[in-house]
Amino acid sequence: MKSKEICCIGAGYVGGPTMSVIANNCPNYNITVVDSNESRISEWNGPVNDLPIYEPGLKEIIAKVRGKNLVFSNEVENSIKKADVIFIAVNTPTKTHGEGKGMAADLTNIEKCAKLIAESSSSGKIIVEKSTAPVGTGKKIKSVLNKENSKVKFQIVSNPEFLAEGTAINDLMNPDRVLIGGEQSEEGHKAVNTIADIYRQWLPENKIILTNLWSSELSKLASNAFLAQRISSINSLSALCEKTGAKIDEVSKSVGMDSRIGSKFLQPSVGFGGSCFKKDILNLVYLSRYYGLQEIAEYWESVLKINDYQKSRFYDKIQNTLSKTENPTVSIFGWAFKKNTNDSRESASIEITRKLLNNNFTVKVYDPMVKEKTIIKDLQDVLNNKLNKLTVCSSAEKALKDSHAICILTEWDEFKAMNFKNLSSLMKEPILFLDGRNIISDNKLNRTFKKFMSIDK
Ligand code: NAD
Ligand code: UDX
Repeated sequence: MKSKEICCIGAGYVGGPTMSVIANNCPNYNITVVDSNESRISEWNGPVNDLPIYEPGLKEIIAKVRGKNLVFSNEVENSIKKADVIFIAVNTPTKTHGEGKGMAADLTNIEKCAKLIAESSSSGKIIVEKSTAPVGTGKKIKSVLNKENSKVKFQIVSNPEFLAEGTAINDLMNPDRVLIGGEQSEEGHKAVNTIADIYRQWLPENKIILTNLWSSELSKLASNAFLAQRISSINSLSALCEKTGAKIDEVSKSVGMDSRIGSKFLQPSVGFGGSCFKKDILNLVYLSRYYGLQEIAEYWESVLKINDYQKSRFYDKIQNTLSKTENPTVSIFGWAFKKNTNDSRESASIEITRKLLNNNFTVKVYDPMVKEKTIIKDLQDVLNNKLNKLTVCSSAEKALKDSHAICILTEWDEFKAMNFKNLSSLMKEPILFLDGRNIISDNKLNRTFKKFMSIDK
């Protein structure tokens, strides 16, 4: 069988792991991952222990396939030219200016890719929308391609990605489903099948769902909205637990044991983070408003309101407990938005730390995986003189020295295993232990710290 040439534009949290897993499962496909960010590509080509993305299991796959049927390259045009299939896996952040500012997805990166594909193509290609984008994006890509290059035939396919960071490799190897949407024409069906053939190399037919383009695009936004809505639901109840004395873990377990509801995504937290949930819900809200569906927009917007409320509620606990402490110092444990990733996008730690610094707290941060330069970048909108009050520490011990409070914000296993009773002797005064992930037992700590607080107390 002739090798098929795949190009993926975007070497990020989706492009890198997804193409690695495809390369590993499909030896007959040659895959080139390209990116406009040259340093990212050189990191992908560097030592496997220092890849730009940390994902359990990723470096082992990279070590196996890189340089064989998986290549990371800066040669964007050339890679597009020779490809039969092009995945677009670029970032689609919330717009920061223009119409839809703060709500709609910014499709500039996707549009740039479409233009470049049109300019660089001399033979027909299937363009796969891997990035999460609003309903209608496939149609937009097609109109850019046709406008810029009427000589070549392009087919557009939507194949949204459902991986979660921290479990990406397992999610890609054993997905609940793979969704592929295409145009309702003979050519469209053929293109959808070509993409399905890739996944058929390691997945059974019943895991592959074929739909039209628009259902596929909307299903992705809907899935993220449903997941986030469950977290906001359980977090909203944690506030009620705090008032009534009910325990949120007990409520979560009881509710989740109803097989109609299920136990996943009912873990209370200081608020969901990550690059997807907020952005995709804002996008859904914008779309609903655009179509005049005000009630629908408000319904989904409330999921985000509860998430903000949860973070404020958590910050208030720190503020209220340490209001009389002189030069209050807080140790933040965890910067990643969840465990097993080095990604901190939209992490609750950013907002809590920003508020602490702006209110003159001294903050010491420790995270096992997120680099100092990322933490500093995340806080770039905090005034410079406030940043003097921030220290990024290389160990938990260093982060605890001279502090008054510990806040657990990421559920790293390393934190679960720590003996905080012993570690508290390093602190200036153990006033507050705040568990934002409900992962630490309060049995001993409530005698060590003046206050032991969590999501529900
Ligand atoms: P990312 O920021 O990690 O990576 C995107 C990459 O695309 C960057 O390296 C950037 O330099 C590159 N890029 C942007 N424009 C480019 C262009 N014109 N030419 C070449 N390269 C370009 O983003 P991500 O987390 O991988 O997300 C990508 C898409 O997948 C987004 O739409 C996101 O919503 C969606 N998604 C993300 C996840 C996740 O867990 N991160 C999961 C599912 C879907
Ligand atoms: C999410 C979706 O799960 C994934 O399908 C999609 O492709 C991308 O967006 P991701 O953001 O990587 O994945 O991680 P996820 O596991 O969904 O966690 C998102 C946030 O919710 C994290 O901050 C996590 O800590 C939080 N969370 C998750 C909770 O607070 N409680 C839970 O029960 C689950």
